[in-house]
Amino acid sequence: MHARIALCPGDGIGPEIVDEARRVLDAVAAAGGHDLTYGEHLIGGAAIDAAGTALPADTLAACAAADAVLLGAVGGPRWDDPQARVRPEQGLLALRQGLGLWANLRPVAPYPCLSEQSSLRPERLAGVDLLVIRELTGGLYFGTPKERTTGPDGRRAVDTLVYTEHEIRRVVALAFRVAAGRRGKVTSIDKANVLESSRLWRPVTVEVAADHPGIALDHMLVDAAAMRLITHPAQFDVIVTENMFGDILTDEAAVLAGSIGLLPSASLGDDRRGLYEPIHGSAPDLAGQGVANPVGTILSAAMLLRHSLGLDGEARAVERAVDQALRDGCRTRDLGGALSTAAMGAAIRERLAVDGGAASAATGSR
Ligand code: IPM
Ligand code: MG
Repeated sequence: MHARIALCPGDGIGPEIVDEARRVLDAVAAAGGHDLTYGEHLIGGAAIDAAGTALPADTLAACAAADAVLLGAVGGPRWDDPQARVRPEQGLLALRQGLGLWANLRPVAPYPCLSEQSSLRPERLAGVDLLVIRELTGGLYFGTPKERTTGPDGRRAVDTLVYTEHEIRRVVALAFRVAAGRRGKVTSIDKANVLESSRLWRPVTVEVAADHPGIALDHMLVDAAAMRLITHPAQFDVIVTENMFGDILTDEAAVLAGSIGLLPSASLGDDRRGLYEPIHGSAPDLAGQGVANPVGTILSAAMLLRHSLGLDGEARAVERAVDQALRDGCRTRDLGGALSTAAMGAAIRERLAVDGGAASAATGSR
């Protein structure tokens, strides 16, 4: 097959980790006879420096024309002035919105071989395999712009949490469809004891549930959910929630995995095109040293193969190669090891058995 992939390395460690993920995609393409072409585009702080805006029009156009976007991370201390007119993060938010990517899938399934890395006791981690579906283009992140501006004296600030029934329904319906292929359980997380938007979210979720009789639904308040995620993480299957709740809860869920450097994400909309990025940030303290963990980005590339290119077998091959490398003891610094970003990427590629054949990466499960 032929596919066009837009690479947006961004800032900090972004270029280093995207490079390793691209090499994995190249290895998959070479093994399967696929033709992947790449374009590299500016976003975030790098784009502010070069073009004065966090999402240049040609970046958005190239991403819209591509089959998939692979992104590193945006942001850094150089652009952190709270008074600044443009911020790197605006580029990412504008890209998600510009591409209409309203659902963000963040799977969390800790590797047993890394259980000593987690702050939780191993028995708490047993059986943890959850997927957070974060609403991505509404809620607190996208309040009406004029309402966000500060007051006349500059000492008043407003963020609005707006949801329409349509926005809730489409992301909740996705959660139910995905749950049907998993353990058949959806937990909808809201703050219905306080927020008006949550009091709309709940009945819409109940209506969607009526169309999916085989799937169990429960509702949880976000504060209680934050606790349950740590005390009883194995009880969750699919979680669906508001944009900012999802942002916060997935950083928390990274504690289950042992390092935020491990977690991938896929941002999807109405069609197959998607944006794939690790959930972590640009880690300016690690940038340029070649020590960042590329696994979150490589697993994001696996999600790209699955969701945008329809190459599920290849996606699973990449996931098995990561699993095998970790079980063989390959560790970057965040996991208590000494492998460089490039060495970790190479270790994963060496274990890649794309045809699912007899090579070691094809056997065993986590
Ligand atoms: C994430 C990040 C972004 C977000 C930032 C960089 C804007 O934290 O993808 O989780 O808040 O969505
Ligand atoms: Mg975040």
